[in-house]
Amino acid sequence: MNAIQIKDGIYWVGALDWHLRNFHGYTTNRGATYNAYLIIDEKVALIDTVKAPFSRELLERISSIIDPSRIDYIISNHVEMDHSGALPALMETCPNATVVTSAPSGVKGLTAHYGPHNYMAVKNNDTLSLGKRSLSFVTTPMLHWPDNMVTWCPEEKILFSNDAFGQHYCTNTRFDDDSDFCETMQEAKKYYANIIMCYGKQAAGAWKIVKEMEPEMIAPSHGVIWRSHVADILNAYEHWSSSVPEAGALIVFDSMWHSTETMAQTIAEAFTEKGEPVKLFDLKQTHISDIVVSLLDCKYVAVGSPTLNNNMLPTVAAFLCYMKGLSPKNRQAFSFGSYGWGGQANGQIEEELKKCGFDICLETLKIQYIPSEEQLKELSEKIKSLK
Ligand code: FEO
Repeated sequence: MNAIQIKDGIYWVGALDWHLRNFHGYTTNRGATYNAYLIIDEKVALIDTVKAPFSRELLERISSIIDPSRIDYIISNHVEMDHSGALPALMETCPNATVVTSAPSGVKGLTAHYGPHNYMAVKNNDTLSLGKRSLSFVTTPMLHWPDNMVTWCPEEKILFSNDAFGQHYCTNTRFDDDSDFCETMQEAKKYYANIIMCYGKQAAGAWKIVKEMEPEMIAPSHGVIWRSHVADILNAYEHWSSSVPEAGALIVFDSMWHSTETMAQTIAEAFTEKGEPVKLFDLKQTHISDIVVSLLDCKYVAVGSPTLNNNMLPTVAAFLCYMKGLSPKNRQAFSFGSYGWGGQANGQIEEELKKCGFDICLETLKIQYIPSEEQLKELSEKIKSLK
């Protein structure tokens, strides 16, 4: 396995995880990559490592360029094990290498995972000279762990952005311009929705700093490297992190005997007649990590469930729990569902939508047993009257 040169003297030495289909609850239908980068200068620096099972792949790719024991610095932009997992293998191969990490969270996190070492703690804007090139560290706490930082090489105008701007996307291509652009953006958007969205405020600040750097290349630790579409991904992040959708309806439901499903379809039709783009998802068919991507495009969120044993269906509860964690906020929401008796699910859903920080724009839509034509017409009128 060989290194791939991304710029004169700078190499991709990461790992390809073609078969990964679940990254702690996030479906990764196109696999994942763990990107690490090697800079050969008067000093040799490795930026990030890979997930532990891929340690051999990393060392093999490094060995295609230099003896790994020559590494002087290992920059750990992020403690999470998909980027630091190969540190034990590297510490064994190059015991004298200095591991550079953020102060104090990076040092604390790496020590907890791998024990004491000669860690070099860096603060925001600290720099490190490699010879002809230098590295500058920009801390990005809570994007998405407290220790996160990005590494900027001003002489090359490359930003090593770790998780930011990443995609869970495994290809044998390393750049945005030799990959399918639609697939890349689709995966970048899914990555943003599932990993970054809950830290939207911090994200908005960080993208401003990154934009001012005017990077020519953004090399994330997952997916392909941005070099021809840097402006596209920066604009997309700015848009996703700062704007509230002005249109669109996301309708999510599960159903037992199709009555809640009939209500969902009627709601979708009514929004369509109102001129709103609609995304309709049955939780039995679509994974929650795919559904939440549509939060980035929708002003309205409608969630429906029948009542089972005095509760909403577990699939709906799981969706609401996941969505609440992502903190989308600033959406108009309402609940709906058919019931036989009791009908507690509607109120429970509404409470969870409030906890998401949504405004409840419509009193819950509740129909007993099978919805009649008249009830569906009434429901449709309520949707059409939404502002
Ligand atoms: Fe790719 Fe937060 O780890």
